[in-house]
Amino acid sequence: MASAPDTKTPEVESSGSLSIVNDIIFSPINLLLTLIIGVLVYKIFKKFTKAPVDAPVLQLPKIRKDMTVAELRQYDGTQPDGRVLLAVNSWIFDVTRGRRFYGPGGPYAAFGGKDASRGLATFSLKSSDKEYDDLSDLNLMEMESVKEWEAQFREQYDLVGRLLRPGEEPRNYSDEEPEEADTSTSGQTEDKKDQ
Ligand code: HEM
Repeated sequence: MASAPDTKTPEVESSGSLSIVNDIIFSPINLLLTLIIGVLVYKIFKKFTKAPVDAPVLQLPKIRKDMTVAELRQYDGTQPDGRVLLAVNSWIFDVTRGRRFYGPGGPYAAFGGKDASRGLATFSLKSSDKEYDDLSDLNLMEMESVKEWEAQFREQYDLVGRLLRPGEEPRNYSDEEPEEADTSTSGQTEDKKDQ
């Protein structure tokens, strides 16, 4: 008598290979690695989506003031009020709102309290060490980039005043003076064109 075909064998085989796959997937090393990767992904995600806990949103009174490079240097976010200013194309902006970028420990802290023009134009995170950087050695494309950054900062942040050349006198700002009036005054890029 012919015996019935053994239908159990494939099941046994497949359950055998399944258990091998299970063993591989759920091996302690793989579970540990999955856990480590999960923690790392969570940390990276948290870093990019949340401001550091030590960087509360600061509501400081607006300031309107022209400054020298030396004066600007004080506003790197290390003062008790935490205010951060930076200059682009000879305009000073209050970037305290972006303190997590430009304040101490931020990715762009090198720009806090500094003239960021050269760094932004040359994709360098080193800030200018010069007493006053007239940017005269930057090429046309780099100067275009400086202007674009200036426009972006104008949109995002409050204008504080001008970065003064050595010997240049600060302007006297009255409370009534509209901020827009400043756009007519030339920055470093316009100065260059005039040369
Ligand atoms: C691997 C290189 C870089 C990466 C991955 C990167 C990433 C980013 C990201 C994700 C933002 C937007 C942050 C946000 O709005 O939440 C940003 C903004 C910015 N980045 Fe970068 N960046 C890099 C290099 C640079 C370099 C070299 C510079 C300057 C030289 C720079 C200057 C800036 C500035 C000024 C902002 C605007 C911050 C603000 O909103 O005030 N970045 N970057």
